[in-house]
Amino acid sequence: MDLFEKEAFINQAAEDYETKTPQELLALAVEKFDSITLACSFGAEDVVLVDMLQKIKPGVDIFYLDTDVHFKETYETRDLLEKHYGIKFVRAATELTLEQQAEQYGAELWVSNPNLCCNLRKVEPLTAILGKYNAWITGIRRDQAPTRANAKKVEYDVKFGLVKFNPLASWTWEEVWEYIRANNVIYNPLHDNYYPSIGCEKCTRQVLPGEDPRAGRWSGNDKTECGLHK
Ligand code: ADX
Repeated sequence: MDLFEKEAFINQAAEDYETKTPQELLALAVEKFDSITLACSFGAEDVVLVDMLQKIKPGVDIFYLDTDVHFKETYETRDLLEKHYGIKFVRAATELTLEQQAEQYGAELWVSNPNLCCNLRKVEPLTAILGKYNAWITGIRRDQAPTRANAKKVEYDVKFGLVKFNPLASWTWEEVWEYIRANNVIYNPLHDNYYPSIGCEKCTRQVLPGEDPRAGRWSGNDKTECGLHK
């Protein structure tokens, strides 16, 4: 596809698939793009997409950004999913160890400069891995945050230079959980312990009743996005 064809495809698909199911959009995505990958954080939305993808086209690459500071429950969820589906997730990570990071930037960079920490441990490895593909699939939803309210189901990702599919963009949190329960999908047990949105262990806290579901991410900081999604 050249750039004009890509733009026409994106606009048309975004319109045609706005009212279609996530599975229909996933089927379109994997039919149109051989070089496509799913970004999986092992959060509720992403385990839904992993399950859907295994039923539509097993074998599509699924990667996770390993910051080396995820919760142990997140790594356990990864292992359980791999065993259940008989798949292996692609690990994308910086070569900078936590020790080297502390030497170069000081201890606890996630406290002193969370933007730099996210950049080193998430955005840079993401940029590297997305360079190998023409399209990616994410679990972002419009009602997660004002910054995501205008997310299209299919869009051009200007930041990383590839087509982006957001099959769950119009789903609510309840719809995500209905799917998980109906399909017995393996999920991160932290969700049952007041962690609706799960990032790194250092920067994610439990959410109190009545708080925004993303209030536990980079709490006490004005940061709301780590830079994966504009
Ligand atoms: S974040 O930007 O605030 O960290 P969030 O946790 O809401 O993102 O996840 C939104 C989507 O970004 C996920 O559905 C997933 O597609 C992608 N994503 C987030 N974190 C990771 C990760 N560690 N590895 C791979 N993909 C991720």
